[in-house]
Amino acid sequence: MVKWGICTAAQDVAWRRMWRRGLVSCSLLRAGDPPAKEEIARFERLMKQIQLSNGVSRTTFRGRFSQWNEEIQQCLEQVFPPGPAPLDVADWAVSNGITAIEWFERLRRSYPAVEFTASDRTLYLIEAHLPETAETYILEPGGTPVQYVRDPFVLSLTQPVRWVYWVNRRLWRRAWGNWRNRWSRELRIPRGWSGLEEGGISVEAPPFVLRKLPLVHPEVVHLMTHCRQFHIRRHSIFDALPEPVNVIRTMNIFNRAYFSEDTLTEGARAVWRSLRPGGIWIAGRTVKENPPRHEATIYRRQERGWEIRKRVEGGSETEAAAMRVTG
Ligand SMILES: C[S@@+](CC[C@H](N)C(=O)[O-])C[C@H]1O[C@@H](n2cnc3c(N)ncnc32)[C@H](O)[C@@H]1O
Repeated sequence: MVKWGICTAAQDVAWRRMWRRGLVSCSLLRAGDPPAKEEIARFERLMKQIQLSNGVSRTTFRGRFSQWNEEIQQCLEQVFPPGPAPLDVADWAVSNGITAIEWFERLRRSYPAVEFTASDRTLYLIEAHLPETAETYILEPGGTPVQYVRDPFVLSLTQPVRWVYWVNRRLWRRAWGNWRNRWSRELRIPRGWSGLEEGGISVEAPPFVLRKLPLVHPEVVHLMTHCRQFHIRRHSIFDALPEPVNVIRTMNIFNRAYFSEDTLTEGARAVWRSLRPGGIWIAGRTVKENPPRHEATIYRRQERGWEIRKRVEGGSETEAAAMRVTG
């Protein structure tokens, strides 16, 4: 038994998707500026099937925080009165960034000079194409393979292939074997590749041609390119920012399902160091979608430790960790 994938934009039409049944190649994540409607729809379909190696989900949805943004706004306005003064805001672990755009637009109505930076640990994948063999490996920025593409096949390299698809399974074993024994040794990722744009988008690195494939939503890339107040950076939630900011939001990342209490404490310390005195930290977890419900806490950084300004639905799982960070 065999399952074919979608390798090119021309193959990505409804009847072929039904007939081929396999995965869509991550090479199709790229979109134009401005993005076309079909490119946006394809990006959103593709994001649902992408599995990265660390197991943290990348799920996020338009409108997930519409109501929550209003509650945050009420709380922020008690601390930072609306007006033309600058306000530095960081939204951490934003996945494809679609909820970051919505929050930025809400904030800008009350703070027209807001400087907004959305970040995530993984902003792009790397397409490593081998012209010699017409194969493509899709890699995380550190070089871990997540997908293998050889038209008409698209295979996930983070999940095993079911035994009934024995043709795919044989190819999967061969793709992994060749990667371990040969290609991984010849891979050289350019040193300057960090953010989406730093160091360029593509480079020839024989035997590969390497190209970045954004994991950031095409509408977010478009805004980043055309709005000076909206930025996207690569950043880990465990690192303090180089310049402290007024407000940090961390939704659906500092969760007990992902991290131990000690690791959450390390994260709370990174937030504390990244905030100016009197700054606000919004932390929470979505416990239900449609309509969304969040367990969350809004903290204010004090001289030593935190003041809790607001608690929603019993509060965030970060509270115990936060209380261990006193300076
Ligand atoms: C479930 S998504 C949350 C998206 C968005 N904040 C929301 O609530 O809808 C979790 C995100 O955390 C990112 N992530 C995982 N480990 C991270 C780390 N150490 N630093 C920064 N981001 C990380 C993942 O890449 C993923 O995009």
